[in-house]
Amino acid sequence: MDSQSKPRILFSRGEVEATVRRLATEIRQDYQGKNPLLLGILKGSFMFMADLIRLLDFPLEVEFVRLSSYGGGRESSGKIKVVQGLRSEVRGRDVLVIEDIVDTGLTIAFLLDYLRKKKPASLKLCSLTDKPSRRQVPVTIDYLGFTVPDKFIVGYGLDWDEKFRYLPDICVLEQENR
Ligand code: IMP
Repeated sequence: MDSQSKPRILFSRGEVEATVRRLATEIRQDYQGKNPLLLGILKGSFMFMADLIRLLDFPLEVEFVRLSSYGGGRESSGKIKVVQGLRSEVRGRDVLVIEDIVDTGLTIAFLLDYLRKKKPASLKLCSLTDKPSRRQVPVTIDYLGFTVPDKFIVGYGLDWDEKFRYLPDICVLEQENR
């Protein structure tokens, strides 16, 4: 991947909208009346979370965490830390984590483990996308938007080196033929 890489649409904004509506219906059925804590992982989940929450017309609370993976690059090193920590009380809450993509699974496995120790009443995961071909640790995704191929995905909040987050479609980053 380099600066010549161009995004190609994988799932259009219309497909994204329909999928977010489906997920909202599933989540509404399970969480209405429970005042859940929706916990977004920054930065990638911000757009998905904003659209999802607008479709959940019942009381809930919103929180974000920012995680970092030591070692840099696009590969997860597996050594993850919470950079911007939780301010909300998790103990006894119904917590629904909102993620943009589960790739190796190392990031989300770390966060779920971290949260489980705080004794929530329930803990589930909603992910916009899943790249199961690269999984290194098992992860259960309770609410899943799209399964994606083993390609680099950008748009709708997902970035490559902070670029392409603004795209309204979910895209694959491809090398330009030169
Ligand atoms: P994991 O720990 O390998 O599952 O990686 C999770 C994080 O890596 C995600 O939250 C993303 O920030 C980033 N990531 C992994 N794959 C992609 C991708 O295809 N596009 C954009 N970000 C990705």
